[in-house]
Parts: sequence; C-alpha cells; structure tokens
Amino acid sequence: MKSKISENFGQTQRLGKELAKTLKGGSAVCLYGQLGAGKTTFVQGLAKGLGIKQRITSPTFIIVRKYKISKSSVKSFYHIDLYRIDTSSDIKNLGLDEILNDKNALVVIEWAEKFGSELPKKRIDIYFENIGKDERKITWSK
Ligand SMILES: Nc1ncnc2c1ncn2[C@@H]1O[C@H](COP(=O)(O)OP(=O)(O)OP(=O)(O)O)[C@@H](O)[C@H]1O
Ligand SMILES: [Mg+2]
Repeated sequence: MKSKISENFGQTQRLGKELAKTLKGGSAVCLYGQLGAGKTTFVQGLAKGLGIKQRITSPTFIIVRKYKISKSSVKSFYHIDLYRIDTSSDIKNLGLDEILNDKNALVVIEWAEKFGSELPKKRIDIYFENIGKDERKITWSK
C-alpha cells in the first residue's frame, strides 16, 4: 500500500489524472471512504486524464453513468456509485458483471464495499480518509 496526503481539491484531482495514464481497458478501480472524502473529486481527475470533457458529477440517482472515450485505447468509462444500493439483489440487477467483463472499458466504483464478495479480484483499491478541513489521506494498492 502507498499513501499520500492531498491538501486540497486540486491535488486530489491531479492524483486521479495521474492514475488515468497508467490504466488499461478492463481495469476496475474501487473507491472507499466516507461522504465528502473526495471520491468523486478523484473520479473527475481520472476522467480528465482520459480526455473526457464532460463534467463528472455524482451519479446519485442514476447509479451507473457511461462516458465514451474517443482518442484512447479504452473506449468507454463507467462511473458507478453504489451509495444508494442496499441489497445484494439490487447490485445483481445493475448488470455490473457485463460492464466488468468489457475489456475496452474502464470502471470506477464509489462505495465499492457495497459490492462485498462480488468485487472483481483483479482491481485497484483506493481508500479516502478525511483527516482535516481540506486534508485527505489517500491510500492505494499497487
Ligand atoms: N483535499 C481534498 N480532496 C478532495 N476534496 C476536497 C479536499 N479538500 C476539500 N475537499 C472538498 O470535499 C468535498 C469532496 O467531495 P466528493 O464529492 O469528492 O466526495 P465523495 O467521497 O465522492 O462523497 P460521496 O460519498 O458523498 O459521493 C468537496 O466539497 C471538495 O471541495
Ligand atoms: Mg461521490
């Protein structure tokens, strides 16, 4: 595990942007941490790093959002937020298996712990902790 302290919103976005450069299609990035810990902020940076121009917002009511990517080996980016999901049968109905098996897609999941034992084995886990007004500790598996 590696970790970094982000001192502001922009630094968290930059970390997401840096990660984007290293990701290939078929990857799953799982994000964990309390409300306001910076998960969506990180996803915004990730999307920028992939060349996505649209503004990324929390997919609160729409649990899965898909973005097309043009100039990249990765063809689509899925932003999933499981915050409002309560049961494992709800999760099964989202069709995540298909999304996770798409080798041309990059998938990022907020509140990934709700996925429980069904999380893909091959994934990157990133933990966000609110440790001060603007300080966030970000820890990831390599
Ligand atoms: N260092 C920082 N990194 C990220 N966000 C920060 C930082 N400092 C302050 N913030 C603020 O914290 C909030 C983070 O919100 P964000 O939506 O990214 O959190 P989240 O983890 O996705 O929460 P939720 O679980 O509700 O989706 C924003 O209002 C942002 O401006
Ligand atoms: Mg969020």
